Amino acid sequence: MNFHFYELSPKDSFKNYYLFSVNENIEIFETAFVTADFRAFNPELSKDTFAHLWPSKRTQDYRNEYVTSVSEYEPLAHCLRNRFFLDRISSLFNSGEIDLLINFGCGFSMYPFLLSGDMEHIEIDMPNSILYKREKVTEWIRNGKLPNRKLHFIEANFNTEYEESLLQKISSIKQNKKSFILLEGVLFFIDSNDTNRLFQLFSKIQKQGEFVGSVSFQKEIEERSAFKRLATFTEERLNANEKFEYQTLEDAYYSNLEGYDLIEHEDTFSLKDKYVPEVTVTKQDVLDEHMYILKRI
Ligand SMILES: C[S@@+](CC[C@H](N)C(=O)[O-])C[C@H]1O[C@@H](n2cnc3c(N)ncnc32)[C@H](O)[C@@H]1O
Repeated sequence: MNFHFYELSPKDSFKNYYLFSVNENIEIFETAFVTADFRAFNPELSKDTFAHLWPSKRTQDYRNEYVTSVSEYEPLAHCLRNRFFLDRISSLFNSGEIDLLINFGCGFSMYPFLLSGDMEHIEIDMPNSILYKREKVTEWIRNGKLPNRKLHFIEANFNTEYEESLLQKISSIKQNKKSFILLEGVLFFIDSNDTNRLFQLFSKIQKQGEFVGSVSFQKEIEERSAFKRLATFTEERLNANEKFEYQTLEDAYYSNLEGYDLIEHEDTFSLKDKYVPEVTVTKQDVLDEHMYILKRI
């Protein structure tokens, strides 16, 4: 096993579909190992040439079990998602519209190292994820596995009263820089109250012309066989005292968001058609996510 375990209190344990490993539960920050593993599956498509640094034997075993039991298309879906945001963020930087990426629930995504070295990055996640990411990234930069980047790491738990201190920390780094805020792979796991608090915070952080990228599922997915398998998989692996909850959001949530215009909306299928039209998928077996780009007005 080549990663550390940190002691977490039960309230910190992750309520999500990656949580329950084949033999034992995996902890909150380990979900990000699995997401990285999905992206490493096809680096040509995801363009994440560093994702392979994260997965361990344990998370690879977990990924295999998950892919077999729930959906064979999860690696593809995650590669498409990464590619879409990488392309968008990169072109907004190249056209001079942003210079700072703020990644909420960054996990082990590697955007800082895949984007121009002139960009600046704020990586935000739960303390355990940030502790581990900072340690590994520092080591990999030191031994030349990763290029050096302008990185800031901030610990936050979106279930707590974190806004004031986070706003302060972000503002002192951000100053007049133009930002892209990314919220990818997180909304499924938090409730509507915490989601509203996040978007209110975004509107305080950003000025007119800045961007948010967000990912969520729609309620309609509950009808898919893949989602039903996901529910079973989760239930079978569920801790006795954990109640499985998930959040879905409709387009209207984004189009009605105060302070933002919805400027782009894609989903897993539209991205597949754009990036790998030759690949065919069975719709019922795809856990299809929706990707939104918003612009601060
Ligand atoms: C499935 S991973 C996705 C990671 C990354 N955004 C990506 O797409 O690869 C979910 C991430 O959300 C973070 N997360 C979940 N709930 C959170 C919370 N309440 N506060 C802060 N981070 C949270 C987890 O620690 C984890 O890194």
